[in-house]
Amino acid sequence: MNRPKRMLVENVGWAAEVAASDPDFFETLAQGQSPTVLWLGCSDSRVPAETITHSKPGDLFVHRNIANLFSPDDDNTMSVLEYAVNVLKVDDVIVCGHYGCGGVRASLLPLSDALPHVNRRIAPLCALAHTHSSELDALGTMDSRIDRLAELSVLEQVKALRDTSIVRDAERPPRVHGWIFGLHDGRIKVLSSGDAAETAVDSEGQAAGSSNAASKAA
Ligand code: CO
Repeated sequence: MNRPKRMLVENVGWAAEVAASDPDFFETLAQGQSPTVLWLGCSDSRVPAETITHSKPGDLFVHRNIANLFSPDDDNTMSVLEYAVNVLKVDDVIVCGHYGCGGVRASLLPLSDALPHVNRRIAPLCALAHTHSSELDALGTMDSRIDRLAELSVLEQVKALRDTSIVRDAERPPRVHGWIFGLHDGRIKVLSSGDAAETAVDSEGQAAGSSNAASKAA
């Protein structure tokens, strides 16, 4: 059985299981959504927002792209943010990167001519790597450079989100958090707790990635 067929079979089982444990679940789901969290994560198949946070349908408004990048010039991410903040009125926006990110890795390697769209998307990461080149070059391995750049990028996206008029001018501005997921242990590390003042410290490299970093479970 090919994968899509297997997925459809699994869907029948899943729907039956959910309905058996909560007979009103789908009726409630059909009435509308009121998620309190916007999740901006990487498209990487290993970092599914709902699974790693034990969330259910209806809990998270999700946008994922390569390397969890946010740009005010991009109507895709901006429309998601606009709807989440102005219509759904989410309380929290979470940028969640991950260690071992392929998009971040690509930004530190020679770009492939075969991937022009990816190259354009990760251009801001290349620029960020250049800005922090002395810190990154001082790290011993490629993997540690990738992981540190992934942390710096999360903080950069948090800052960019907080700087948007959508967040700043919201009736009740959402907290913007910066998290990073570890593939080796499945744990999320908090890089920015949602407090703007704290991230100002993090972005100077004082806390993120060091033993002082606030490390909390999701
Ligand atoms: Co990734």
